[in-house]
Amino acid sequence: QTTLRGAADELGKDIGVAVSYDQLQNNATYRNIVATEFNSLTAENAMKWDATEPSDGQYTFTQADAIVNFAEDNDQTVHGHTFVWHQQTPQWVQNLSGTAMQAAMVEHINTVANRYEGRVDSWDVVNEVVSDSNGAMRDSFWLRAMGEGYITTAFQTARAADPNADLYINDYSIEADNAKSDRIYTIAQGLVNQNLLDGVGFQSHLILGQVPSTMESNLQRFVDLGLKVRITELDIRITMPADSSELARQAQDYERVVSLCAELADCSGVTVWGLRDGDSWVPGVFPGEGAPLLYNDDFSKKSAYDSVLDAL
Ligand code: XIL
Repeated sequence: QTTLRGAADELGKDIGVAVSYDQLQNNATYRNIVATEFNSLTAENAMKWDATEPSDGQYTFTQADAIVNFAEDNDQTVHGHTFVWHQQTPQWVQNLSGTAMQAAMVEHINTVANRYEGRVDSWDVVNEVVSDSNGAMRDSFWLRAMGEGYITTAFQTARAADPNADLYINDYSIEADNAKSDRIYTIAQGLVNQNLLDGVGFQSHLILGQVPSTMESNLQRFVDLGLKVRITELDIRITMPADSSELARQAQDYERVVSLCAELADCSGVTVWGLRDGDSWVPGVFPGEGAPLLYNDDFSKKSAYDSVLDAL
């Protein structure tokens, strides 16, 4: 195979990319590579609450629609991201009382899931609900207003709204066997018992040289619960400037992560969190770090691209 998409199709897995509406709209080369190299799309921002319902009951689907239409035109699956998150959710939601917040959540999930029923294949129903310290629940406005039951409510609503979509819980720093992934495991068990969960999304915003040694066994324990697993937001960041040995090391790290998914029957796929290094969120959020993706800014392929192709 000569494209990631061809190799992934042969394997029966998704190779996805997080796309920006603006690039898709304005850059023909970007469009062409997204269409030929990937068989799955995720909206990097366009399906988040602040993008789809910026004020109560006022929905704006222009950007999300454009991405779903693009996927349809190019025979790609869509992994939806995301309904319930503590970021990129408008202030009007955050200020609601518990009952009103629950009503807003249910209404939002129903509206978005119904709109894309049959066109979005899977959803990150909740995102980043566990904190980084000791695997406690994240102290978010959701938890404070609604209690821990907000997670079940979100999944019940999504399940009823689109019974055929695969429902995922998604988080970062859960790639290793650690306190945070233990908590995700406990939450997942509870949801599986109610038939509300289909998969776990491992964001995998990784640091060069730090693919966890326990990643494979950790993913396996979720598979053993009867769940799918998915690498949902893969990037591997380097302290800038990145030299050639670091870029070679990065290619090895990509190979490890993608091989792991390729060899695990219940891993549904890998999504990289952006196309080119310059498209990445990393430099804005981790100062001094960057170059985390598969393409250079001139759309040439990095070594990491070749290693992903090898791994698929
Ligand atoms: C990031 C986007 O990449 C940025 O463009 C945006 O400004 C902030 O959000 N975890 C997630 C993603 O689940 O939604 C985040 O995406 C990256 C971290």
